[in-house]
Amino acid sequence: MKVMVITCSPNKDGLTETCGQMARLGVEDSNGEAVMVRLNDLKISNCRACNNGWGTCRNEHSCGGVKDDFQELHMLMGEMDAYVVVTPVYWGEMSESAKAFFDRFRRCEALKEKNKVEGKPVISIAAAGGSGNGSNTCLASMERLFSHVRAVRFDMIGITRKNRDHMLEAIRSSAREMAICR
Ligand SMILES: Cc1cc2nc3c(=O)[nH]c(=O)nc-3n(C[C@H](O)[C@H](O)[C@H](O)COP(=O)(O)O)c2cc1C
Repeated sequence: MKVMVITCSPNKDGLTETCGQMARLGVEDSNGEAVMVRLNDLKISNCRACNNGWGTCRNEHSCGGVKDDFQELHMLMGEMDAYVVVTPVYWGEMSESAKAFFDRFRRCEALKEKNKVEGKPVISIAAAGGSGNGSNTCLASMERLFSHVRAVRFDMIGITRKNRDHMLEAIRSSAREMAICR
């Protein structure tokens, strides 16, 4: 099974990255292949909401509004069997890089009949600071995103500095289970 692990933090050695590495280990525990993507290493701009706001992506299911690294990653998503998405919690929301990519991805896929992620499992992870405040709203926006594109919720995990040790183990075992469940 091919599992894309998408991390969405500017920090290469922070909690988001550690979560992504634990997910990778879980996938590999099940002899799956983890495809690691760091969104902040890519150039992906915000949606321009072309034309009247719906853009050409509504009917063409691809983004012609901005040519950047979005198009290649968008295509690669279709080759995966499952996904792990890890974002830091910023102001109770997903990070800017997560929003930039997934806003455009949702526009391309939500109204497509058989889309790239339909029926495929996703583990959503919100990596927060000490308080953990805002983890729920961040996870709620991830839930809404993946329900719009008809992916299947496998797990939703909130991790903070306080629960870090046991939640890192939970991430590994969740990814391991997801990678053997199909
Ligand atoms: C702009 C900004 C906003 C943040 N907002 C929240 C928040 O709403 N709730 C929270 O618990 N932590 C918040 N944090 C802390 C981060 O979620 C936390 O440090 C997280 O581990 C960052 O991920 P990283 O280690 O990959 O950088 C915020 C951090 C930044 C930089």
